[in-house]
Amino acid sequence: MRKPFIAGNWKMNKTHEEALAFVKEVSGQLPSHDQVETAVCAPALFLKDMKDAAGSSDLQVGAQNMHFEDSGAFTGEISPLVLADLGIQLAIIGHSERREMFNETDQTVNEKVHAALSHGITPIVCVGESDAERENGETELVVKRQVEEGLKELSHEQAKQVVIAYEPIWAIGTGKSSTAEDADETCGQIRSVLSSLFSTDVAEAMRIQYGGSVKPENIDGYMAKENIDGALVGGASLKPDDFIKLAEASS
Ligand code: 13P
Repeated sequence: MRKPFIAGNWKMNKTHEEALAFVKEVSGQLPSHDQVETAVCAPALFLKDMKDAAGSSDLQVGAQNMHFEDSGAFTGEISPLVLADLGIQLAIIGHSERREMFNETDQTVNEKVHAALSHGITPIVCVGESDAERENGETELVVKRQVEEGLKELSHEQAKQVVIAYEPIWAIGTGKSSTAEDADETCGQIRSVLSSLFSTDVAEAMRIQYGGSVKPENIDGYMAKENIDGALVGGASLKPDDFIKLAEASS
């Protein structure tokens, strides 16, 4: 049985003070970790203080990106070694905004996934098609390539640690969410790819989130689906009440 996982992706939003206020407000009100895993992936500058503020609560704090090297001449980058040292054990990898605006490729995603796992950081690997790819009927092909390339050369044990987030690009921040049926169909296709890449057991153990305009009003539809194990939430994760509602609806 896969445990539901609701993760917020704050992107480049909130001040340090607002971030800490959020943690203070939600951390005592979330359903227990036994029922649903919850996390907020915040700007790197806030991570240490948010982690401290979350204390022993069930709210996890994650990064939105990291480099694949531990150290070196990579101006402005985030070291996985430092994330791990600060106790940050979760990172989003290959979000479509990073792929589109910061030239991330399936290959860098794969390098980052390996680096994350080697530091005990759980990667949330984002995949998803653009509007044009969807119109051309290429959704299955695109996500298959992204999953196969992004998860290359992982052992079965490593693969089980990975979380996949299926985020159709046309549904991100647009209010145009995928229907639960379409999202489930693609998540099912992703699970088949995982099964071929690794094994049925591994594929059944791995969690696949849906992301793209998820909010308290539509979460139930996604969570009722067989292949959807949670959500990666942008806009709605910025509001404490909505984040709590999303976690409650998934528990
Ligand atoms: P929205 O929930 O704002 O559509 O963003 C989704 C997303 O990109 C999460 O990573």
